[in-house]
Amino acid sequence: MFEFTAGDAGVQVTGSAIAEPVTLSWRWLRDHAEDAASRDPDTLQRRVDTFTIDPSATGSVTHTENGFTVSWADGTTTTHSNELLSQVVDDHCRTDWSRSMPDSFSMPRHVELWSSPADGPDEVDIDRFLTADDSLAHGVDQFAKYGYLVLRANSTSPAPDYARAEAFAKRLGYVRETIFGGVWDLKPDLTEHADTAYDTVYLAPHTDGTYSHDAPGAQYFLCVVAAQEGGESLLVDGFAIADELARTEPEVAATLASAPVRGRYIEPGIHLEAERPVFRTDARGELQQVSFNNYDRAPFLLPAEMEERFYAAYGRFAELANEPSRRALVTLTPGDLLIFDNWRTMHGRNAFRGARHYTGAYLNHEDLESKRRVLANR
Ligand SMILES: [Fe+2]
Repeated sequence: MFEFTAGDAGVQVTGSAIAEPVTLSWRWLRDHAEDAASRDPDTLQRRVDTFTIDPSATGSVTHTENGFTVSWADGTTTTHSNELLSQVVDDHCRTDWSRSMPDSFSMPRHVELWSSPADGPDEVDIDRFLTADDSLAHGVDQFAKYGYLVLRANSTSPAPDYARAEAFAKRLGYVRETIFGGVWDLKPDLTEHADTAYDTVYLAPHTDGTYSHDAPGAQYFLCVVAAQEGGESLLVDGFAIADELARTEPEVAATLASAPVRGRYIEPGIHLEAERPVFRTDARGELQQVSFNNYDRAPFLLPAEMEERFYAAYGRFAELANEPSRRALVTLTPGDLLIFDNWRTMHGRNAFRGARHYTGAYLNHEDLESKRRVLANR
């Protein structure tokens, strides 16, 4: 269907089905390589570090039966299939890139932005939250303002278990069922789900469900067994980064509010995909959601000029998201619970040792909004 020819700027794609040649830049090719070192062969999650790719690196192309390989100046070789590239180019050529997309946004009201953990929400006693309405109202208000909440167990708290995790969901709304089930157990076990979250390695700040049209509104973890060492949750305010970029680097903010980014999740029998910009706004131009997960980013091809801006903006966002000074580090001991707004607050985890065991679930965003309105109007 297409022919792939190496050129100065990358690999040029031609074919009878497309009016003009399309170029796959060298950087794009490095970011979308399909060999096992670049991409997990089972989940197709990205292994290559997008943000350390040298945009000026070039390679030499050798054609193979199913596509081609690229030999890079640093000695690595990556593989690329006709199948993936054809699908991406076909999709690219079907898109009307001249249509206008929103590129500026305002911040929602009632939001308290934070760029350091010291400016975060009050901690709340978990038993009072589950039984006393004033504590529930205070916790929900803090969650709505700051995008996360830490609930601490006390000496008389019941044992943390599945039933307690379920009771917490019912206090706020109801458990959202997903491919991971309702209330789930999170402990190192790659036999059940091959996702990086079920490993023990460091997880960089991200949001969940970039592959879902309606990503989970919130996620919570109830600590059953703490890690022997490490394993702290790390949180970053995505809205604070959006606000900062809009004020200081408006072109970067505009690119992140307009370039569509696709996410996907693959395991046997499942292939989920969805697409939205990193900063999603509503019809009034108010920021509604930050989505960022480079592990789960699916292949897509932007027009050359937009691709350049996208990689620069996406890399800048990642740089800010990974600044240690922005992180709230949360250490949970058994019985403690952490809930965060998955449409705003990115989460990650330090690497750990030991049988760390959390139980938790997803909640819908509208149910938390509902709870805030109802409690505010008591
Ligand atoms: Fe996650």
